[in-house]
Amino acid sequence: MQLLYPQCRPTSPQELASGLRLGDKAPPGRPYLVLNMVSSLDGKATIDWRTKGLSTDLDRELFHRLRTQADAVMVGAGTVRAERYGRMTKSDELRAAREQDGLAPDPLAVVVTARLDLQTDLPLLNEPEQRVVIATGSDATLPDIGDQVVYERTGGDLPLLMARLREERGIRSVVCEGGPTLNSYLLSAGLVDELWLTLNPKLAGGAAALTIVAGRALVEPADLELVSIAEGGGDLFTRWRVKPS
Ligand SMILES: NC(=O)c1ccc[n+]([C@@H]2O[C@H](COP(=O)([O-])OP(=O)(O)OC[C@H]3O[C@@H](n4cnc5c(N)ncnc54)[C@H](OP(=O)(O)O)[C@@H]3O)[C@@H](O)[C@H]2O)c1
Repeated sequence: MQLLYPQCRPTSPQELASGLRLGDKAPPGRPYLVLNMVSSLDGKATIDWRTKGLSTDLDRELFHRLRTQADAVMVGAGTVRAERYGRMTKSDELRAAREQDGLAPDPLAVVVTARLDLQTDLPLLNEPEQRVVIATGSDATLPDIGDQVVYERTGGDLPLLMARLREERGIRSVVCEGGPTLNSYLLSAGLVDELWLTLNPKLAGGAAALTIVAGRALVEPADLELVSIAEGGGDLFTRWRVKPS
């Protein structure tokens, strides 16, 4: 892997995603939030409704390394349903990397679902070591799920969810892994501080395929500035800061 900007030199997923101290950048009242996405060169977020065709081994390594940098990993229910999420930190090595950076060995998982439409056999909801907050508009609870899974009844109010994560659970940094619908609500609410976007050298086409931000056009386009670019195996690994509006 080669860093191309702001300097030109060899790098690695480990170097790009360690020691970031994201929590130190948290604004008052909410966590610092980094979006992590992969897309084709024509901006598509899926091939056949999955990210699999866009993500390389190197991209997955960076994806798992970035999870070591935040107090919480957040994801929308559509993505959880499509990608069958399990425990967020996959190995003892990655848990050690988190601890080295002053974080708990496992991040809190946050799943956003208006309807509480989640498969109860989802590995993510059945790992005793994986604490999960389900942020939902529903008053129901999922049957036969352990007490490592709790609920925030914040409905569609993402600013309220972020405030509660910070105030009640001490969450100072969040890596959000989409999907495109959740991204659009987060961006509209001004809750996104960074975008990490891997560009995979494919053209996917298809008007129906989601891009990395779905839903209605943002009232004001988000304005971003480049932080870094690296290249590896043909992928471009880009990091952007969202300018305050
Ligand atoms: N390329 C990438 O990096 C990437 C990353 C992630 C996902 N993906 C792909 O994107 C697809 C899924 O995307 P998606 O846009 O359909 O799903 P999504 O954004 O993951 O989830 C959408 C769902 O999240 C809940 N939700 C979102 N915003 C909410 C809000 N403000 N309040 C309450 N609930 C909210 C709703 O859940 P309920 O429906 O349960 O009410 C909504 O239907 C999958 O095919 C996945 O593979 C790609």
